[in-house]
Amino acid sequence: MVIILDGKKCSEMRLEHLKEEIRNSGIFPRLATVIVGSDPASKMYVRMKHRACEQVGIGSVGIELPEDSTTEKVVEAVTRLNRDTDIDGILVQLPLPKQVDAERVIEVVNPQKDVDGYHPENMGLLFSGRPRFTSCTPTGIMTLLKEYKIPLAGACAVVVGRSIDVGRPMAALLINADATVTICHSKTKDLVKELKRADILISAIGKAHFIQPAMVKPGAVIIDVGINQLDGKLVGDVDYAKVVEIASAITPVPGGVGPMTIATLMENTFRAAKVKACDSA
Ligand code: GUN
Repeated sequence: MVIILDGKKCSEMRLEHLKEEIRNSGIFPRLATVIVGSDPASKMYVRMKHRACEQVGIGSVGIELPEDSTTEKVVEAVTRLNRDTDIDGILVQLPLPKQVDAERVIEVVNPQKDVDGYHPENMGLLFSGRPRFTSCTPTGIMTLLKEYKIPLAGACAVVVGRSIDVGRPMAALLINADATVTICHSKTKDLVKELKRADILISAIGKAHFIQPAMVKPGAVIIDVGINQLDGKLVGDVDYAKVVEIASAITPVPGGVGPMTIATLMENTFRAAKVKACDSA
């Protein structure tokens, strides 16, 4: 029997637990989001993050900058949030408009407030096996795998996609959990051969229904990070209806990885607030 990895349920449980923890802590964490422009998908994601803050008792402020903002304007906004002692976590919603130097903006975020885990200092800590803040989507996936007791030590894990927000940190987290990890990308020579070796297959490429049963080892655990539109429907990178027949466990889209990303952001924000509270005590 295939196990459906229910990210929605797991996320709700974690948010309930976090709400209790925050209530009992005497700390009032605060998250600031920065959005540049008015991309409808980005606006929706940011709204969902603010709603989750409200649900668990985290204060949130949203900074909205115009689409034609320069890198300097975005850097100024982030610098103000770095200096604001009321703000524990800063999230700059990606992607940024193309005239904005995203790498520069990410590097300006105070690493202690970098609840997205994108700052090179936090990436470096993760890759050296001493994680501090780690990217929310891969961290949420690790939580989900742990919740369902999926064994990772010695498992062959294949990550498709090498982005800084998912593919790379995912690989580092899996290495830290003793998996044997392969990262595949657009230049990988024999993708199907690599995928067929996977005990755990994580797809983050953004191509609707790209992963077909012929690419999957029977009994593999399938994690689908994709959020794609297909014929007016939201679908993942994995052709779910077909792959579910041969997988041992699989995440649905929606209701799999997405909710875990938001729960992790809330957890990271509370952690940032706790560290600040300890440092100033
Ligand atoms: N864009 C899509 N997902 C994310 C995310 O988790 N964090 C940020 N900052 N931008 C995103």
